[in-house]
Amino acid sequence: MSHRSDDLDCNPSNNEHFQQVLDRGLASPSRRSLLRGGIGLGAVASLPMVAGCGVATEDKPTLGFPAVAKSLADEVKVPAGYTVTILHATGDRLDTTIPAYSNTGIENDDWSRRVGDHHDGMELFYIDANGKYSSKATDRAVLAVNHESSADAHFFHPRGQTSAGVQGKKFDQFGSWDLGKRPSLESLKEINHHGVSVVELDLEFGRPKGYKLGSTLNRRITGQTEARIAGPAMHLSDIKQFMVTKFSSTGATSRGTLNNCGSGKTPWGTYLACEENWAVYWQIPATGIAADAKLTASRARYGVARTPLAQTATVSTGQGWYTVEGADISMVFSRWNISADATSAAGDFRNEPNTFGYNVEIDPLNPNAMPAKRVAMGRFAHEAAVCSIPVEGRPLAFYMGCDSRNEYIYKFVTAQNWSSSDIGGGMAAGDKYLDEGKLYVARFNSDGSGDWLELDYNNSLIKNYTGYPFANQADVYVNARHAADAMGATKMDRPEWGAVNPANGDVYFALTNNSASNRTPATVNAANPRSYADPDGEKRTGNPYGHIIRFAENGGVSTALKFRWDIFLFGAEEDSASSVNLSGLTAANSFSSPDGLWFSYATGICWIETDDGAFTDETNCMLLAAVPGQVGDGRSILVSNTLSGATGTQATFIGAALSETQLRRFLVAPKGSEVTGLAETADGRTLFVNIQHPGELTPAIGTAADFTYQSNWPTNGGGLTGAYGTGKRPRSATLMITRNDGGKIGV
Ligand code: FEO
Ligand code: CA
Ligand code: CA
Ligand code: CA
Repeated sequence: MSHRSDDLDCNPSNNEHFQQVLDRGLASPSRRSLLRGGIGLGAVASLPMVAGCGVATEDKPTLGFPAVAKSLADEVKVPAGYTVTILHATGDRLDTTIPAYSNTGIENDDWSRRVGDHHDGMELFYIDANGKYSSKATDRAVLAVNHESSADAHFFHPRGQTSAGVQGKKFDQFGSWDLGKRPSLESLKEINHHGVSVVELDLEFGRPKGYKLGSTLNRRITGQTEARIAGPAMHLSDIKQFMVTKFSSTGATSRGTLNNCGSGKTPWGTYLACEENWAVYWQIPATGIAADAKLTASRARYGVARTPLAQTATVSTGQGWYTVEGADISMVFSRWNISADATSAAGDFRNEPNTFGYNVEIDPLNPNAMPAKRVAMGRFAHEAAVCSIPVEGRPLAFYMGCDSRNEYIYKFVTAQNWSSSDIGGGMAAGDKYLDEGKLYVARFNSDGSGDWLELDYNNSLIKNYTGYPFANQADVYVNARHAADAMGATKMDRPEWGAVNPANGDVYFALTNNSASNRTPATVNAANPRSYADPDGEKRTGNPYGHIIRFAENGGVSTALKFRWDIFLFGAEEDSASSVNLSGLTAANSFSSPDGLWFSYATGICWIETDDGAFTDETNCMLLAAVPGQVGDGRSILVSNTLSGATGTQATFIGAALSETQLRRFLVAPKGSEVTGLAETADGRTLFVNIQHPGELTPAIGTAADFTYQSNWPTNGGGLTGAYGTGKRPRSATLMITRNDGGKIGV
């Protein structure tokens, strides 16, 4: 997501106060001996290391490209010998029933047959001779891409967004703006460029040349596409009670998916679109009726209709979609007004936000299959959902981050054991694996161990929780953040993507950054150990550079209730103080705010993408290649929290200092963009990378005919083989990166 959105903090719980962590750590025999033993390899031995898990021997890649320098240019920079082309960009059409994209904002179709905006997570699916998913390469494939948000929706209209008849407003779902009546077509275009695009690739000897315009597999799932509410049989009727709106009096279905950020790919071949910052689209007009105390408490923990902004008509979060006037018999616009008004002619949509915040399963090879919202995997700000290495006859685990400040890492363990006979099983296989299972949240202990805490209504910590009155297990799924609070989960520095190392099953999570107020020296914990000041640029404090944590399940099994963890990598600028640059980064691999995280199956490279605001005075966001090790292979290091002064807090953790042979910058993005989404062809010779929101800091248009863009990419051809498309407005896009000698990417 946009780095401007990182102010979301709705976790008032008291989990993991620093002193408690410190006390626990000092009370632990292993920690005591570690501190006594000082710093160094001798001390590491006293920390518990990863248990032998019996999975495949690790196969380490060798990075085979020169590091790309930092760049502020409005272009994609890659190493010499690589070529970058574009698969598709925001606004490209899926078929010829509508005109090619003008990139001037004059489209008068409703965007439901165009590629959405804010390209994010994506997955590639090969197709077998029967039209089903194939886990092996074939000569046909589709690429599914998430479209995260509309924070830059001013690019899609002739002169920016219109409110109360005035052009040139710039709404932003993360802030507050004057709110007047919005036009119908603008609002439809904004709703519909959310969601997911599926396009069939044009493959030539396995190498993608573009997408097939007009393929019957080309599909849009938008903010309006009907989806089924799915969950465990025992709790489904209770779950549906939370979803009842005028649109679905039984709560069996809902409409649309929003802010699809990271993604997931199931072993049976479906796509998981994860709903992240969905909470900010609803409003309660000044004439509206507030929710009851319980629903208000639920909303507060998710940032829905935060008061006082949401309580006035003139200033509000959101895009103002509910203000569209005229006949609305399909309740396209009224659903964004969540006034608790049972008598409203426009409909009572107080429960509409309960229908968002899920992993949405989509069969990318069946355009007629209704997506399903998998409620048992919990409701929160889902970033990505990454599956454990499937083991025949064993349950699967899905690891999931909740990306807001001080939120948690979760895991869902399937009740059913994996059977490879389900490959190609579509939504029916999803019903088998993703509706029944156990949901856990992570606690990271200061001795290097971790616990998975089950979110079970029958646990007295949840049943008797005073912060929110749970009614049943359905309530636990729908209010998973509250349940995680009750269980004492560890507050993290914004969990972005997770990734599973296919070589050994280790699970990595990007903790992108945390703010001054949310990660102070007094609130660090072992898993989020730094609090410091960035000395240049915006001079943010807290943990502005972020870090990457990783863990290994005890016994290497998906069902483990305990894990061992360490920190893989600390983000930093190369000129940061050594007390901050704990991984010893240099100009070849300095980075800030890791976000996308993904392992190549073809090369074993751990790819790291950034979405940053702390280092952007020196470089645009980037993609780095890392050689993964394994949990516990680092060294213990001293973390001195420089903000706390001479008497500051010190603690010791395992971290690896990576050399340039282990970590290297591969790509730098155009101005104002983040780098996100990764996928590859099975041969590892084409890498797909998404560029999201170039030109993000372009100012609002005002009433001028046009405005000055921060970026003109990709029409400027920056780093490409030529200009892509027309017009000056910046566009998100999917890159296809190949090596000129046809080799695998990055090695
Ligand atoms: Fe959508 Fe957490 O970035
Ligand atoms: Ca992200
Ligand atoms: Ca800086
Ligand atoms: Ca610097």
